[in-house]
Order: sequence, then C-alpha cells, then structure tokens
Amino acid sequence: MFITFEGIDGSGKTTQSELLANHFKQIRGENNMILTREPGGTDFAEKARGILLKDDVDPVSELLLLVSMRYEHVKKLILPALKEGKTVICDRFIDSTIAYQGYGLEVDLELIRDLHKLVKIIRPDTTFILDIDVKVGLSRAKDKNKYEEMNINFYNKVRKGFQEIAIKEPDRCNVITEVEAKDNNQVYSEVINKITSAGI
Ligand code: TMP
Repeated sequence: MFITFEGIDGSGKTTQSELLANHFKQIRGENNMILTREPGGTDFAEKARGILLKDDVDPVSELLLLVSMRYEHVKKLILPALKEGKTVICDRFIDSTIAYQGYGLEVDLELIRDLHKLVKIIRPDTTFILDIDVKVGLSRAKDKNKYEEMNINFYNKVRKGFQEIAIKEPDRCNVITEVEAKDNNQVYSEVINKITSAGI
C-alpha cells in the first residue's frame, strides 16, 4: 500500500505522515512500514534536495531534476518496499510537482505527465490532500525555502492545483478541508477514519 500526503507548505502534512506511520508501525510492526519524503528519500535525492530548495534554476530544469530524484526514490526504496508487502507513506510525491511546477510555475502539465509516464513512475494508492488557507499555511511554515519566498498569488495557484487534482482523481484523493480551523488531532481523526473506512 502506497500512501502520500500533499498540500501547500504549512498544511501539516509532515505531522500527519508521522502520526499515520506510527499507527501502522503499531498494528503491522516497525519493519513493515516505511516513512519517506520528497524531495528526498535516497542519499542522492537528499543531497539534491539542498540544491533544489535553494538554487534559482529554470522551472523545466527543476522538473527534470525532480523526476530524476523521484525515479531514484521509486526504484531504490519505494518499489522494493512495496514488493516486500510493506506499507509506504511518502510526504509529497508527484502531485507536488503538478501543483508547484505545473500550476505554480506554469510548466506544461502534459510535459510533467509525459515525463513521469516515460520513466514509469507509479501512482500512489491513496493520497491525502490537506487544504489550508494560503496565508495561514505560510505563517505556519518553518525553515523557509525558495518557494516560501514566492508571493501569495503563486501559492494560490499551487493550492488550486491540488484542488483540481482531487477533482480529477476522486478515487485516489481524499481532501481534508479547512485545515486552518482544525488542530492536528482533528485532522488525524479524519485521516484515520478514511483509512479505516477504506479497509486499509
Ligand atoms: P517540504 O518542506 O514539504 O519538505 O517540501 C519542500 C518544498 O519542495 C516545498 O516548498 C514544495 C517543493 N516541491 C516542489 O516544488 N515540487 C515537488 O515535486 C516536490 C516533491 C516538492
């Protein structure tokens, strides 16, 4: 089972990924659960993350780097774990590229999809999208990276990107709405209810 968490910076997805990972560790055992993240997840991708989140490069170069990091992550960590029957939770995945590079930086969405298809990047089984007011999200975000220095307009486009992904793929995507009005426990109870009702 491959589960991802998505949302703009400051939406609380890292906390929710950790809470759900702990739940699965308890019921399935520590060794049957992998918690990972993007950008990152392998030695190479964690090193590249430092460059990606800092350097100002062309958005298409950024996309190509992200796809290469993701390919490495899927091939070396995610697929082997899934083949061993483990549950994999990933904090951000392909939807972040569609939302940030596609909707936010206006890279051609077809190019993003085609590149992922070309190198056979797998789709998550279930995705949680944490939808939060942009101003509230940004005020909560720590460790400012280059995206967080972008303006509100950029983040509104990114947020809309996530919302549109959810509309296009309702079977895969679960949107947690109005996160700005909920604490971590309330969000987590929505996550766990969806997991339980889906029989995961
Ligand atoms: P994080 O703070 O959630 O770890 O994410 C770091 C930043 O990386 C975040 O601002 C969003 C950005 N990002 C992209 O722009 N495209 C991507 O495909 C991914 C995975 C992250």
